[in-house]
Amino acid sequence: MLLSLHQDWQEKLRDEVSEECGKDKTPDSDTFSKLKLMNMVFLESLRLYSPVSFFSRDATKDLTLGHLKIPKGTTIVFPLMKMHSDKAIWGSDADKFNPLRFENGVSRAAKHPNALLAFSMGPRVCIGQNFAMMEAKIVLTMILQRFRLSLSSEYKHSPVDHLTLTPQYGLPVMLQPL
Ligand code: HEM
Repeated sequence: MLLSLHQDWQEKLRDEVSEECGKDKTPDSDTFSKLKLMNMVFLESLRLYSPVSFFSRDATKDLTLGHLKIPKGTTIVFPLMKMHSDKAIWGSDADKFNPLRFENGVSRAAKHPNALLAFSMGPRVCIGQNFAMMEAKIVLTMILQRFRLSLSSEYKHSPVDHLTLTPQYGLPVMLQPL
């Protein structure tokens, strides 16, 4: 959806893919690290549309979090969509698609180094994050090598949380062979 709306980024990624993988080579472990723009686009997509839109933690003892006193047994919910669009953390363009914010790495994209929580953080961090990013890069590379993407006029923007974030009325994307 984002690459259909932002054709300039779609072209940038296609150029990068063409440079690193040519017209039909599937990316391998050497190529992944070279797809820097694609990595930035995925991070920005995860920020704006986190597939897991919230997670929670139970306090196992009384604790103090900043100025908050949290009693044992409290459930703390982390609303990722809200946190990922906080202008105080991400800057005034927080609601805009701007992959360049990740130009100098995830930890420098916002005012807090751990601001991107799409895969969570700490001891219970997602164990599949590298696999998920690798799989997404392979699939997107293969699509960009073969097709130009655009969004159908039928598309209605309505992301909803059904366990993971889902486009409520589907995501009709048109593929034009290159
Ligand atoms: C874009 C794709 C994915 C996203 C956004 C994602 C996100 C997350 C998040 C936010 C958590 C923390 C949940 C919580 O603590 O309540 C989590 C945990 C986990 N994820 Fe993922 N995940 C993705 C893909 C995957 C894949 C592909 C696998 C397996 C191959 C996987 C396996 C797990 C497991 C096992 C945990 C639990 C880790 C633990 O509690 O110790 N995830 N994931």
